[in-house]
Amino acid sequence: MSNMIRVSGWLFASLLLASAPTLLGADAASTSADPRLIRITTAHSELVLFMGDDGRLYQLTYGSAGLPVSVPKRAPSREAEFHPQYGDGFICEPALQATHADGNTSSALVYVRHQTTALDSGVSLTRIELKDRFYPLFVTLCLKSYGQEDVIEQWTEIRHEETGAVTLYRFASSAPILKGKEYWLTQFQGDYSREATLAEEHLGPGLKILDSKIGVRASRFRIPSFLLALNAPAKEEVGEVFGGSLAWSGSYQLAFDLDWNNRLRALCGINPFASQYHLKPGRTFTTPAMLWTWSDQGKGQVSRNFHRWARRYGIRDAPQPRPVLLNNWEATGFKFDEPTIVSLFDGAKEIGAETFLLDDGWFGNRHPRNDDKAGLGDWQVNTNKLPHGLSYLAAEARRRGVNFGIWLEPEMVNPASDLFEQHPEWAIRQPHRELELSRNQLDLDLSRPEVCEFAWKVIDDTLGPNPGISYVKWDANRYVTQPGSTYLPPDEQSHLLIDYNFALYDVMARMVQKYPRVMAMLCSGGSGRVDYGALKYFNSFWPSDNTDPRSRVLIQWGFSHFFPASTLCNHVTRMGKRPMKFALDVALSGALGVDMDVRRLSPEERKTLAAGIALYKNDLRELVSQGDLYRLESPYDGPRAALNYVSSDRAHVVLFVYQLKPNDADQPVKLRGLDPQRHYRLREVNLPQDGSCQFAKQGQVLDGASLMSDGLLPPTHKDCDSSVIELVGEN
Ligand code: GLA
Repeated sequence: MSNMIRVSGWLFASLLLASAPTLLGADAASTSADPRLIRITTAHSELVLFMGDDGRLYQLTYGSAGLPVSVPKRAPSREAEFHPQYGDGFICEPALQATHADGNTSSALVYVRHQTTALDSGVSLTRIELKDRFYPLFVTLCLKSYGQEDVIEQWTEIRHEETGAVTLYRFASSAPILKGKEYWLTQFQGDYSREATLAEEHLGPGLKILDSKIGVRASRFRIPSFLLALNAPAKEEVGEVFGGSLAWSGSYQLAFDLDWNNRLRALCGINPFASQYHLKPGRTFTTPAMLWTWSDQGKGQVSRNFHRWARRYGIRDAPQPRPVLLNNWEATGFKFDEPTIVSLFDGAKEIGAETFLLDDGWFGNRHPRNDDKAGLGDWQVNTNKLPHGLSYLAAEARRRGVNFGIWLEPEMVNPASDLFEQHPEWAIRQPHRELELSRNQLDLDLSRPEVCEFAWKVIDDTLGPNPGISYVKWDANRYVTQPGSTYLPPDEQSHLLIDYNFALYDVMARMVQKYPRVMAMLCSGGSGRVDYGALKYFNSFWPSDNTDPRSRVLIQWGFSHFFPASTLCNHVTRMGKRPMKFALDVALSGALGVDMDVRRLSPEERKTLAAGIALYKNDLRELVSQGDLYRLESPYDGPRAALNYVSSDRAHVVLFVYQLKPNDADQPVKLRGLDPQRHYRLREVNLPQDGSCQFAKQGQVLDGASLMSDGLLPPTHKDCDSSVIELVGEN
């Protein structure tokens, strides 16, 4: 994004004249050759922009591809501007608000030129250069279209050559108009332990804002992703639905402005709240990317578009199988020593786990990390607990055929730590305010270069000398409540939360670059940081500390709208005291792991876990991770949840059914996404240890058409009954 094209005044003026459209006598259906149109096209969707005769850029449509576009005679009304700016006549929510070096509060951006470059098969990037009519302020709108995945990614680059700083008050990544008769917005909100809860509402006139102001762990109360259904509430398989996901881990704002003409504009980007940014001449402010997808096949297709996009472009090493983890957090908490940890390795191997993940509590000496009150920041191995260090543990794990992973929280500090004693100024804090602790800790100020270097050293000094570590869980357990930096000058305090998150990505990028084979889980006190900005550096994320499988059905359901199953770490624990089969069946629908004290498993439990993990590794992992998801029955709508995954050749399918309330009525589950012509052999898997099977169609062969139209009766009636049915194509 640094190879910006410089546009001089005269060049701009002549280009504007050359590109000024001649007026048509009447509205006309355009052809793609119309030079005033810019089309951003994917397999099924299209965004069409128009250069008005006033030089401004307007949006004509965004929705179904190939529909005839009516070209206006002259510039449409200003409310149709594609990237509207505050002042100079614009009266709605602007995408850009800038105060120039001379104090002028308005901007007036006009089209200069655009260029489309093919990048990859089906991917192209269109860069549209805009410039203020008077000031040397340049805004480039970048639109990347992913043809096969039906995703459009947009970000904005802002630069200027004025005599002093330009202050940016609004800087949306993307602000398209989504046009329908009526609008239903679904957000995914909640709190610790009840993350990604669906809440759908009908939008009335005015401004509806979904946001986060907490800078770090910013999606704790709501993820920066949403669905916007046109004309009716969102359904799984029918209806027009837009999906939006902002690739940003800091404070964000998703603003939905429904105007007096029933036109909805969705302004998405970094939260401008208390974040005005003083941009120096010659510097480029690049916003995070906003991801859009559209479908007229309901929110199910919206999710599949995001999943396909993520598997190809959005997450680390999508084809690589996510290892089955055994984590010690639920089992031991902070209370462990070397023999305890080593004694868990054999159990890990026995149940078939592939990686042992040592969680919090392994570090700190003067301030040992024996609870959450001390030690964060002192990333030296606690020599009392682990006298032989991490390499020894990794080697012991390897000797037993298990890989070794480690928990880190490099952005945080406990006041009770050597680090804080030496560098109290490194914490995010405000002058003359009493320090407010959360989980007894503070955020480190990543806007300060030494702190970034420190965070990087935490990772490098842990992974470098211990090449046996193959996995990292990166945690971040508090958000910002006192945004202040002892590093930034007074007039740049408002930059803190923005600079923090860009710096954070630099550290994450360094980790991926230097340790490409170390897999990584994104965690933030549960899922306080789940977005495609961070996920490109991670293989998966931790959806919630709530691992009660009944709650997990809902939490996983929420996240599935945007994130593929391979990114959701689903762990079997003792939480909720549900039957282990139910907990396993729930966890099998994502990246399976276990968080139990394997020394205390009963023989029966050990066998159940081992069988479930073997089934996962041998039969289900590839299908669940790479297959297409169809959500069949929502846990929000009825007594059970049902979903199925389908392989790309539609020859392999798995159905999961979870009974959340008792129901004696025999209701078939209708599968989706199957090949109607194909015959599938049905097999209920993950059966109880005695092999008993209540599934009436066990071993039978049925065709895809009838499985989709008539469905099948799963053997689930009681609360916490569950069933996993594998379908293998026979022809
Ligand atoms: C957070 C994570 C947990 C665990 C603890 C350790 O709460 O979500 O999984 O790692 O931190 O302190």
